[in-house]
Order: sequence, then structure tokens, then C-alpha cells
Amino acid sequence: MVRSRRDKIRMTTAIAHPNIALVKYWGKQNKTLNHPASPSVSITLDSLTTTTKVATSTETRLVLNGKRIEDLKVANFLDLFRQQFGLPPVSVETDNNFPTGAGLASSASGFAALVTALSEHFQLGLNLSTLSEWARRGSASSARSIYGGFVTLQGPDWRADQLAKESHWELEICIIVTNEGPKKISSTTGMKSSEATSPFYLEWIKTADSDFEIAKKAIVERDFMKLSEVAEQNCLKMHSVIHTSQPAISYWAPGTVSAMEQVREIRNAGTPAFFTMDAGPQVKVIYPRQCRAIIQKSLEELKNVRLIWASIGPGAHLV
Ligand code: ADP
Ligand code: DP6
Repeated sequence: MVRSRRDKIRMTTAIAHPNIALVKYWGKQNKTLNHPASPSVSITLDSLTTTTKVATSTETRLVLNGKRIEDLKVANFLDLFRQQFGLPPVSVETDNNFPTGAGLASSASGFAALVTALSEHFQLGLNLSTLSEWARRGSASSARSIYGGFVTLQGPDWRADQLAKESHWELEICIIVTNEGPKKISSTTGMKSSEATSPFYLEWIKTADSDFEIAKKAIVERDFMKLSEVAEQNCLKMHSVIHTSQPAISYWAPGTVSAMEQVREIRNAGTPAFFTMDAGPQVKVIYPRQCRAIIQKSLEELKNVRLIWASIGPGAHLV
């Protein structure tokens, strides 16, 4: 009796971290399989965390940050996953320790933690590559959060791979949170609009392979200058595509521009650092660990922002 009750309430917990793309994808080549239109390379963060608990249940339900919600993206994913493996309904309780839907890649850590917990809970024995495939079906950037360190996502199979471990290069990240609220246009919707309407979309896709190769080489060779140049320009190209969508989209806030300027000033004064932004107003500053004190002093001058500090972190794992 005790045993069956315990089985019924057995929960499996997994943790995953968001990742920041240094060369980004923005656009899909296959919407059913959720294949990006171009390759990307990212770093996984350590201090930002999604913790997800799954349990077998009588109905499929999602509790996100303490609130029961209906989320189409998660619901569709759970239907697909359960159908594929013939699974019963599941209860999912998940918490992000950072703003959700605000351009800090909660979808990436969210689906990576979910597939890791599901695979263990139902003893599916999925390897990392297959977990990455499933995470991508939930949200393409999530494929990369299965791995720690420096991670690539490219065709033809669109499963992520680890390019280098966390310890390969002592880089750190400061996230300048300029607006904690959720974005008005999701990444999925925003990129669909850019594909269809931005006059720069095809140009963006044309230079993607070359940006990807340059960034990979810079990471392998620990060439900070090269990585700075390609990552910052890649980010600005993506936002140009976004800004020139019709109707125009902007994920930036006034604080985004001030933060970008502050990073340029840091660099002009001789400290290596670069910025990148995803589909949200937060500015992520990447710098070599030994420069932390100077970076901190300078970024603390910014008004009306919250700073979140991170190092390069591990892949999704069970608790
Ligand atoms: P972000 O920039 O944070 O990735 P998106 O709008 O791209 O924002 O993604 C937000 C979506 O990601 C949510 O609507 C939900 O579908 C999913 N998501 C966020 N957090 C979690 C989580 N902890 N577990 C599962 N899915 C999550
Ligand atoms: C700007 O992977 O979140 O962060 O697959 O539709 O969920 P969906 O989109 P998502 O978009 C990520 C966009 C980006 C760039 C990147 O992470 O490469």
C-alpha cells in the first residue's frame, strides 16, 4: 500500500540553464520539425536556473512559477511527446529564477529541463543528442541548453553539440535587466513576421554560415577580439531584420540603448567586452573573468536596471 502510494506521487526533478546565442538564428526552414534557417552558437549560463518536476497524473497540467496556467507551446509539446512514447498524462511544476518570457531564454531552459525530467521519469533512456532533438521541438534554442559550455546548433539534423566545455575559456556574463516584464511579441511570432516581410531577411541568412564559422574558430582559439566583432555585429544584424519587419518590431527599451553605449565606452577605455541582445530588452555583456572589477564598477553606474551575474554553466541534469 505504502509502496503504490509512493509510486503515485513519485516526482522526477531536472534543472536546466538558459543559453545566450553569440551567433543567433532568427527564422525557420521547417516549422513542423522546428528547424532553424541558419546555424547558431551559444554559451550556457550557470546562475539562471529552471527547475522542473514531473509526476504521472490523471490530467496533464502545468504550474509555472507557482501558478497553474494554460500554455499552448508546452501543451502542444506534451501532446507530441506523450503520443510518441505512449505516455500517461503528466503534471509539470516548474520555476524560473529569472524573468519569464523577457528575452532571457526561459523557453530554452524550460524545455531542456522538461525533456530531461520526462526521459528519466518514464525511464526512456534518451541520450543527450535525442534529448536535444526533443528540446528543439519545444523551442529551437532549447536544443542548445541540453549541453553546458560552448554549444553549436546546425543542420542537417539540428541537434546541438558541445563545441567546448565550460572550463575551456574563463568568460563571464553580466545581464543588464532593463525591463522585467514579458515581451509583447514572442520569438516564434516575431521571426515569422521577419521572414515574410523584412527586406533584409535574405541578406541576414546569406551571412549566417560565415558568422557561425568565424565565431566557432574564435571560441576554439580563445580569440576575444574576433568573437566580440562577429557576435556584436551578428546581434545588430538580427535586430535590423527585426526592426525592418512590417509592421516594425522592436524588442528594445530605452535602457537597452544606454546599456549598449556603456559597453562601447568600456571597450573604448581599453577593457575587452561586448554586448548581445536576444528577443527582449535585456543587454548581455560578455567579458574575460579577469576584467570583472572594472566591468562591475562601470555597469553599476547605469540607472534603473538590475544586474545579474553569471559564468558559463553546465547542461541540463537531474537533481
Ligand atoms: P524567452 O525569451 O524567455 O525564451 P519566449 O516568449 O521565447 O521567451 O518563451 C516563453 C515561453 O517559454 C513560455 O510561454 C513557455 O511556453 C515557455 N517556458 C518558459 N518557462 C518555461 C518553463 N519553466 N518550463 C516550460 N516552458 C517554459
Ligand atoms: C533571438 O528558439 O525561442 O534567442 O523555436 O519559436 O521557440 P522558438 O524560438 P526560440 O528563438 C530564439 C531566438 C533568439 C536567437 C537564438 O537563441 O539563437
